[in-house]
Amino acid sequence: MAAPQRSVRCIVLTWVALHITTTEAVDRSNFKTCEQSAFCKRQRNVKPENSPYRALLNSLDVTRESVKLQLINEVNKVPLLLEVYGLRGNMTRIKINELNPLQPRYEVRDVLVREPPTVPLTVVGKDEDSVELSFENKLYKVIITSKPFRMDIMTGNELLLSINSRGLMVFEHLRKRKDSEEKEEENVENQEVKGESEAADEEAQAEKPEDTNSQKENEEKEDEAGMWEETFKTHTDSKPNGPSSVGLDFSLPGFEHVYGIPEHADNLKLKTTEGGDPYRLYNLDVFQYEIFNPMALYGAVPLLLAHNLRRTLGIFWLNAAETWVDISSNTAGKTLFGKMLDYVQGANEIPQTDVRWISESGIIDVFLLLGPSPFDVFKQYTSLTGTQALPPLFAISYHQCRWNYNDEDDVRTVDAGFDEHDIPYDVIWLDIEHTDGKRYFTWDPNKFPNPKEMLQNLASKKRKMVSIVDPHIKIDSGYKIHTTIQSRNFYIKTKDGNDYEGWCWPGSAGYPDFTNPEMRSWWASMFAYDQYEGSMDNLYTWNDMNEPSVFNGPEVTMHKDAVHMGGFEHRDVHNLYALYVQMATSDGQIQRSGGTERPFVLTRGFFAGSQRYGAVWTGDNSAEWDHLKVSVPMCLSLALAGISFCGADVGGFFKHPSPELLVRWYQAGAYQPFFRAHAHLDTPRREPWLFGDDNKLIIRTAIRERYSLLPFWYTLFYHAYRTGEPVMRAMWVQFPDDMNTFSLDDQYMLGDALLVRPVMEPSVRGIQVYLPGKGQVWYNVHSHQRHTGPQNLYEPVTIGTIPVYQRGGTVIARKERVRRSSSCMQDDPYTLYVALNGQNTAQGDLFIDDGHTFNFEKKNEYIYKKFNFVNNSLTSSTDPVGHYKTAAWIERIVILGARKPATVTIKLPDGTESNLNFEYNTETSVLTIRKPAVNIAAEWSLYIR
Ligand code: GLC
Repeated sequence: MAAPQRSVRCIVLTWVALHITTTEAVDRSNFKTCEQSAFCKRQRNVKPENSPYRALLNSLDVTRESVKLQLINEVNKVPLLLEVYGLRGNMTRIKINELNPLQPRYEVRDVLVREPPTVPLTVVGKDEDSVELSFENKLYKVIITSKPFRMDIMTGNELLLSINSRGLMVFEHLRKRKDSEEKEEENVENQEVKGESEAADEEAQAEKPEDTNSQKENEEKEDEAGMWEETFKTHTDSKPNGPSSVGLDFSLPGFEHVYGIPEHADNLKLKTTEGGDPYRLYNLDVFQYEIFNPMALYGAVPLLLAHNLRRTLGIFWLNAAETWVDISSNTAGKTLFGKMLDYVQGANEIPQTDVRWISESGIIDVFLLLGPSPFDVFKQYTSLTGTQALPPLFAISYHQCRWNYNDEDDVRTVDAGFDEHDIPYDVIWLDIEHTDGKRYFTWDPNKFPNPKEMLQNLASKKRKMVSIVDPHIKIDSGYKIHTTIQSRNFYIKTKDGNDYEGWCWPGSAGYPDFTNPEMRSWWASMFAYDQYEGSMDNLYTWNDMNEPSVFNGPEVTMHKDAVHMGGFEHRDVHNLYALYVQMATSDGQIQRSGGTERPFVLTRGFFAGSQRYGAVWTGDNSAEWDHLKVSVPMCLSLALAGISFCGADVGGFFKHPSPELLVRWYQAGAYQPFFRAHAHLDTPRREPWLFGDDNKLIIRTAIRERYSLLPFWYTLFYHAYRTGEPVMRAMWVQFPDDMNTFSLDDQYMLGDALLVRPVMEPSVRGIQVYLPGKGQVWYNVHSHQRHTGPQNLYEPVTIGTIPVYQRGGTVIARKERVRRSSSCMQDDPYTLYVALNGQNTAQGDLFIDDGHTFNFEKKNEYIYKKFNFVNNSLTSSTDPVGHYKTAAWIERIVILGARKPATVTIKLPDGTESNLNFEYNTETSVLTIRKPAVNIAAEWSLYIR
């Protein structure tokens, strides 16, 4: 073992050294291409043709809940079970598994919030070759065709989507290796297995091929390279279960635009993958990732959305194994002119996008979300996987991080720097160096001897701290966390049954099996104040490296043949690991407060459902303009897939930003959901005041803008929590019938009210922004200049400009007295911004609670306001269920696009009416009403006469 150990050390040292010298780009050769991934290659080699699968219609089994029938692969005769469910809310679920697998195939757990409620599926027609099902009062039809097997989902006469219409379905059945000794034994067993399926047997016999050519072909395939073992670089993946991949194709007639399947550092609109690699979903720690390519990154959400002028659809492929997604389109490569020519010449074929999913193991379990609107799809998806957890207010404020704040003195100085420079911030972060030798849950005794004092000092300013707790555990017999996990047998095992060991920050480390609920509940208990010594209630958590990152593992992650609870391989659960880590950590934070306080946990790795546990950031980006740019589509794509709480390292992690880039990044970050500056260990310090006074002031303004908009952000998060609608929205989500928005990803909406187009280019004097909507009014939030859509607006900019527009027809609330942290602003007064549309109306709302507990949902301790402007009158109404007391009042109402009034009066429910002072700016048509002086919870009406 000595020699390999040394070479392992070399690998690790090189890796760490690379992490520290920050000039290289990603080494692509460290990561597999589809061609280098045996199952992907096998599946991709299957070309569109007649599918060997046939649905055995006489096996049809209809219950109120589902329709089941068997499929058979006519070549190998292995029977599969197809289950179709109609789900409440315009969804259908399709599951395909082996009828009699040699051993249970992994089915994803803990992602669905509950077993999705079904609606009755009825058989409405059947002939020799097909069966027709319908659900949701015959609104949707599912047609299953027997030979070759395909499924078509229709509404009325419209074909929405077809499955296996290109015949690319491949379901690799589990088998025993055909070694010479085992061969005979296996034949016997196979026969037994098949004997269990009568329907399959009968029909299979009837259709038995006359010659044995295809059997031969199949047997040859059994020996294909990579089925039983696969080597990549120095790593060999033993595959005790042999081939087990699944793949299926979906055709989307009428769709040219598809989105989602984060995480990729790429444009929002997905590209076709013909001639290149498919998009890969495999949680990986990619050193210095490249942008604009389909390589896998830290997280994976297997949800794809398709959108056209009439509808939005979603395909949710619930599989946690390594997955590749191929996208092709019959219009790819055609220019707009080419498409027009087709149309004029009548040669116009219906545009169509085809999507092919390929996963290494597990089963086919796919949810079709039938929309029809984008918001319906969000509702459908989050009804399955949960909505965004409502973050505590401080968590959507500004965070100051670097690798590392060195010691307690450093923390004190940086904290004081914010006060000195009058810049608000809520949270200071400690990276791995704060621990005692990378032993998480501990403090370096020399650098952080008095963590409680440090935390108390922050608490006195109503500020918080986050410390990093990674899931790799230093192997050290003197470290309680390790010895407990080891003695309780909680570590992931190697294929030989030993504790799996890999290299990460602490050196040799074990990886707790977070798929085990007992392990998770023990982990959660480690966050109790008496377990995590030195912790306090203002200390929150950062889970990093949870892909998991294994420096000396294949593709810098865990060996796929490592073994989890229940005997499942790491291969089966890989993309779920990070979700489980964050789940256990977030539970730990809830438990330490006796269930009252809302948690905050940042994670790097994620999967479908991670939105329930906190925030995600886009990992180790670079201080480069393109990285700033790509942060927008990366977060937009996550938001489409349910994860609203997203941000990128402000300033860029690797390299040192120019002052201009840093300023622009702060301005962009102030308008992204998770707003945290972070920097690599090896970069010069970059607290906001280190770049000269002018830049400091601009950065301060950007951060202050964030703070003044916190009531608006918080309300958006409340909606994300309640209904699953994203906080940060692709333009097409809000303007689904304007094709000009379909490919936009350098601008976006916050809720339905603010359009943001950050400046993300160096040395520019102006930017282009698209203001959509026929007759839609937009107001520049800074100058209050009014524009009407649709138009491509050229907006001149200076270094201080953040182009943001409020949509006419909306009302948003701000707090304009900025203090040192969000909690300090709790009772501060509000200003309402009413932006009138062409009809002189506007609506908006506001959610308020204590900002940190679950009382809003457990005890209805909240205020939910609606503001409605119509007929020159603004009314404020309050949801009668919520009750929460606040001293906050309204100090100002600003009406954009108003006419000059003679009087402004306010009327309270008791009938009292009083005149209010106001100012009117004729140049900008802005009416500013001073001191309505009513409590924010009050109901009132304002009359402008
Ligand atoms: C990883 C994280 C980065 C962190 C570093 C040290 O590279 O992505 O944010 O600073 O590890 O913990």
